[in-house]
Amino acid sequence: MEVRLAKSAGFCFGVKRAVDQVYEQTGTGKKIYTYGPIIHNEEVVKDLEQKGVTVLEEDKLDSLKEGTVIIRSHGVERAVCDKITNQGLECVDATCPFVKRIHLVVEKESKAGKHIVIVGSKSHAEVIGIMGWSLTPVAVIETEEDAEQIALPMDQEICLVSQTTFNYKKFDKIVEILTNRGCRLHVVNTICNATQERQTEARELAKEADVMIVIGGLQSSNSRKLYEICAKECEHTYFIQTIADLQLEVPSDAKLIGITAGASTPESIIYEVYDYVKKL
Ligand code: F3S
Repeated sequence: MEVRLAKSAGFCFGVKRAVDQVYEQTGTGKKIYTYGPIIHNEEVVKDLEQKGVTVLEEDKLDSLKEGTVIIRSHGVERAVCDKITNQGLECVDATCPFVKRIHLVVEKESKAGKHIVIVGSKSHAEVIGIMGWSLTPVAVIETEEDAEQIALPMDQEICLVSQTTFNYKKFDKIVEILTNRGCRLHVVNTICNATQERQTEARELAKEADVMIVIGGLQSSNSRKLYEICAKECEHTYFIQTIADLQLEVPSDAKLIGITAGASTPESIIYEVYDYVKKL
């Protein structure tokens, strides 16, 4: 029986890079803070806490007098980076390079006089961060209805960017609506395909597998989505948080067990499950 682990299981490139940067800072003897939890995974945050890393609440930044503040992969407004350095703190910017690219585009194009529009969720930290790099007011479009109704300048060029995790089909539809409204668009496709790749690979693996295991937080929407995709293709699909939840029943004629994991599942948890299943 073969056990196959999806290559895209777990952290994407940007999250892995950010988490690694925090671990690199531990042991330097400095006071280390992350600007909010580095990742939505309690075990990782707890482990870092034990290594002396404190999660800094946003409203506590003003009173911080010393230490290193690490920015998460989804980035922050420019004003936050400036505040950290102006207060004499060290800033380690672990913003994912794909998000950083959006910041730079927004800064440059707003300076050049374009009206900035972000396609994404208004309340998401990544979008709030992107907004903070524009020199002029920004509009956010969440839905097709927004695209139809939102007031936009017709005499000014619009620079349209997207939250990295936005659905590509919906983004396309929104571009079409704005084009039909007569907007002068400069579209910069800033969608990252890490999520889509993870889902596509999970679907392909689940099609072949006799048993499929999806590892991820119960509250994590991307993990749940992975589970739904796999369960459609493979009747024996398990959704677990850690190895402790695994009550595996493998059909006697099973030839392939597939394993994948959501974006916030650490490698240690993935390999614990992988090693366990391999030994069966
Ligand atoms: Fe991850 Fe960066 Fe893409 S954080 S989802 S690789 S934009």
